Amino acid sequence: MPMKKILITGGAGFIGSHVVRLFVNKYPECRIINLDKLTYAGNLENLRDIEAKPNYEFVKGDITDAGFVNELFEQRRFDGVIHLAAESHVDRSISNPLEFVMTNVVGTVNLLNAARQLWLKGDSAFSASRFYHVSTDEVYGSLGDTGLFTEETNYDPHSPYSASKASSDHFVRAYYDTYKLPAVISNCSNNYGSFHFPEKLIPLAIHNIKNNKPIPVYGKGENVRDWLFVEDHARAIDVIFHKGRNGETYNIGGNNEWKNIDLIRLLCEIMDRKLGRAQGESAKLINFVLDRAGHDLRYAIDSSKLQQELGWKPSLRFEEGLEKTVEWYLTNESWLNNVTSGDYKKYYEGQYERR
Ligand code: NAD
Ligand code: TYD
Repeated sequence: MPMKKILITGGAGFIGSHVVRLFVNKYPECRIINLDKLTYAGNLENLRDIEAKPNYEFVKGDITDAGFVNELFEQRRFDGVIHLAAESHVDRSISNPLEFVMTNVVGTVNLLNAARQLWLKGDSAFSASRFYHVSTDEVYGSLGDTGLFTEETNYDPHSPYSASKASSDHFVRAYYDTYKLPAVISNCSNNYGSFHFPEKLIPLAIHNIKNNKPIPVYGKGENVRDWLFVEDHARAIDVIFHKGRNGETYNIGGNNEWKNIDLIRLLCEIMDRKLGRAQGESAKLINFVLDRAGHDLRYAIDSSKLQQELGWKPSLRFEEGLEKTVEWYLTNESWLNNVTSGDYKKYYEGQYERR
């Protein structure tokens, strides 16, 4: 029997690298092809430990290029796709929405078209072809003080990022409904863990605390996010890819809500301990800055469908996960130094210098 070929897009990014690692190690009988453009957020250093494995292959390419995507599918005849490639940062989407439309919407439709052409001719070597679209809970908009997002919650995106992800989710459903393309979607809450690019709250705060720089907290720090350890997200993706039902959506979350300011205070305590500073030292760096435009107040996920139907649950308490994450950043100083040299400085000044 030929080797099953699984395409993972965006595999050099934060979550993608954890998904690639899990699949390469767990499924040696499958060929895992990682397609990534290597934007500022993509980094092959994230995959050093598995790059020499015989069932792994990296392809550099841009999903907005339809000709390239079609040719790749035609040549390689993938049996499954796990689509993570995206522009993923809300603040960047506020400065440059069009780039988010191109990668997140047009790029997704290019992949859907290529999968449709390949699979709906009945050419796949396996009947179990599947297009898995990895999405975010931000498509549901913002919650008030109570309630949870379920799979039935109406879409109500506010940022250009969430609007582009909502649009791509709708296209995936439209291809399932119209062409019967076998497809599944998951919507996950905020992830944290190793290889997280320091434009997002947790790694940015770790980087700044380490370097004694102010920690920018938007508004009053009252916004709430539901944090999930990235390796738990990767496990959920594995379960849904293999056992989820086509045409369905699965919400993934940590049942772990934190106000930004409380999270930052906890992070400061951990950093004080790890860096041998007096307790309270790092918290002096907290700096309340101008709020994000259209800032969603609260996200919180009901993941009971995934837990009950497919038996997944988060594995770590947040305090443990955060401690592990801090340790990773402190022992992988060179990773952090590499990604914060060059263009990062320009980005940081643009976002924070006059905020
Ligand atoms: P990331 O920004 O760290 O990585 C994105 C990857 O996509 C990078 O490797 C980048 O090089 C690649 N990429 C970008 N544009 C591309 C293009 N045109 N062609 C090919 N590759 C391209 O993102 P992430 O945080 O790892 O998120 C991965 C996916 O998970 C995204 O679809 C995101 O919407 C979703 N998601 C993220 C979170 C989170 O908390 N980070 C939560 C839920 C869902
Ligand atoms: P972020 O990590 O950008 O994820 P998302 O916007 O996708 O939820 O932000 C998490 C929360 O932290 C969000 O409420 C915005 C806030 N935040 C800050 O207060 N300061 C920062 O410097 C950043 C990047 C985010």
